[in-house]
Amino acid sequence: MIILSRQKISIKTILFGSFIIILSILFAIILLFNNIYQENQMEIQRELILKNAVMHAYTLAEIKYDAVLNRDLDEEMAKEHVKEALLGEKLEDGTRTMDSNYSLGENGYFIIYSSEGEEIAHPRLEGQNVYNVTDSLDDSVYIVQEQIELAKNKGEGYYYYNWEYPNNPEKIGKKICYVKYFQPWDWVIVATTYEKDLKVYFEESKKSFLYTAILIVLIIIPLVSYIYKKITNPLFKLNRKMQHFSNNMEVPNIDCSTKIKEISEIESSFNNLSEELLAYIEELQGLNEEIENLNSENSAIIDKMNLLLDETSDILDFDNEKDFLKEVFDNLYSLIPEAYSGVLSVLEDGRVKYISSKNLDIEKLNALNLKTDEYITYNNVFTSKNTKTVKQDALSEEKNNSLNSLLSKKNESLYIPINGNNKQVGNLIFHTTGNDVFSKESFRIAVYYSKLISLFLKFEDMNEFQNNVQRQIIISLIKMMEYHDTYTKGHSQNVANLAEDFSRFLGYDKEFLNRIYWAGMVHDVGKIIIPQDILNKPGKLTYEEYELIKNHPVYSFEVLNEIDNLKDISYIVKHHHERIDGKGYPDNLKDKEIPIESKILCLVDTWDAMTRNRSYRKALSIDSAKKELIKNKNKQFDSKLVDYFLEYIKSNEPL
Ligand SMILES: [Fe+2]
Repeated sequence: MIILSRQKISIKTILFGSFIIILSILFAIILLFNNIYQENQMEIQRELILKNAVMHAYTLAEIKYDAVLNRDLDEEMAKEHVKEALLGEKLEDGTRTMDSNYSLGENGYFIIYSSEGEEIAHPRLEGQNVYNVTDSLDDSVYIVQEQIELAKNKGEGYYYYNWEYPNNPEKIGKKICYVKYFQPWDWVIVATTYEKDLKVYFEESKKSFLYTAILIVLIIIPLVSYIYKKITNPLFKLNRKMQHFSNNMEVPNIDCSTKIKEISEIESSFNNLSEELLAYIEELQGLNEEIENLNSENSAIIDKMNLLLDETSDILDFDNEKDFLKEVFDNLYSLIPEAYSGVLSVLEDGRVKYISSKNLDIEKLNALNLKTDEYITYNNVFTSKNTKTVKQDALSEEKNNSLNSLLSKKNESLYIPINGNNKQVGNLIFHTTGNDVFSKESFRIAVYYSKLISLFLKFEDMNEFQNNVQRQIIISLIKMMEYHDTYTKGHSQNVANLAEDFSRFLGYDKEFLNRIYWAGMVHDVGKIIIPQDILNKPGKLTYEEYELIKNHPVYSFEVLNEIDNLKDISYIVKHHHERIDGKGYPDNLKDKEIPIESKILCLVDTWDAMTRNRSYRKALSIDSAKKELIKNKNKQFDSKLVDYFLEYIKSNEPL
């Protein structure tokens, strides 16, 4: 299979090839036209040569004839003069020397006939009559006859015929004649020659034209290559230079030097333009880099800002001081890029406790088992290369060695105190390694975080205070209620404790236990609204009185629901008198509609009421109370809860 090359041809090749082709075509056309022209010219010249020769001969005859008329010459003499002029002197053998005044080519000569066919003058046959010839010259008779007739009838004219060459009879050539009749002497003057004999001159002329043309071509080719070198070469180089620049954005080392003004100007303009362009591109790249750097700096700052904001808003989500401090420590480590190692420590129970660390062995640190008074604390955020947080003088040599080996890689330290409740409770400390130092930005972040820690700790203190206040208010409320309803004295505390303990037995979490404890504490708080004489009535209650008492869970709910922290509890309390069979109050909820906390509360509330002495009745025995619970399975109480509760009671019974 032939694979055709798809290589691109350069314009240089096309131009040069086209030039050669056009030159060759032009050259061929010129030669062709020259040939045609020469042929035409030859024809005309050939005929003119013969005609002129005959005309000269005719004029000579006229001159000689005039001389005869003037008696200056004898007629025979006059004729002989003309014959000698045309064919040379006559030799003894009757032939002529052919030493003619006229050139009619190699085989050309004059002949003079009489109108009767006599050879008046002839190179060889002078004196003979053509019409008497009966041998091989037969054809010549007709030719002579025709020539004589042409001369006599038309006066003069051309005559053509074919005849063998005298020195080569096998070769036939075209002969051309001009004939003219000179009437005074009855002469038919004929000039004859072979066409080819006269061509030689023109062939020479054609050759000289060919040589001239070749010479011109030979001059044109170096001229063109000179022009090519001087004009196109630098143009192509310039083009290559421009293409290289456009592809690679750099000016190549291509020399386009030329003496041609315009090309030099283009090159110089291109050089200036490319330099300006490169400078502009460089400037743009610089700007671009700056923008990219700014962008990455900005996004880093935004990330840090987001983390700081998250941290600030997360304060409320941490209820554990150590978790919060660990989170702060991790975040600071990621926000301070110079930090290589670090540790978070708190002062607790007279000891230094290391909570979290980066690139420091926390187990070895805690193994130091430092006491609070062996520890040095500072109030502010600062950076230093020789910060000490431990009174090394007070430590044993072993502990000092261990501490020094732990901190062997540190260069600069960043110290952040943890200040809570007017005293320092710990610190965060970060170290750089090698020659690294902390940046101003990292220092600012550290300061921000130290304030955040303080805020958290104060907030936590405040929260604790608030919780204590709330607790005290609730306890006061319960005491007021117990004064109000003497039957329930100590009952709320009992229910709270039992509900919490039973829930722990069931496996609920700390939050659930806390919730059910407080629900137990406040479950009957609504009774404070029920008139005291109804609550403390020793006898049987009327229907109306009972209906009034049945409102106490709703009253409890309405009071507690007003306090944000007690909203969850308020719903538990509201339904602590609902029954599985839906016959409870206030909303007649059934089984799964009742909150699990309310179900537990209902059970332990009843249990406590049954098993404790009241002023108006004695407590039931444990067994009777158990039977009561079993009897009310799936009626008042959740069946499974009763089973669990019985298990719970059993596990708490003395062996
Ligand atoms: Fe109650």
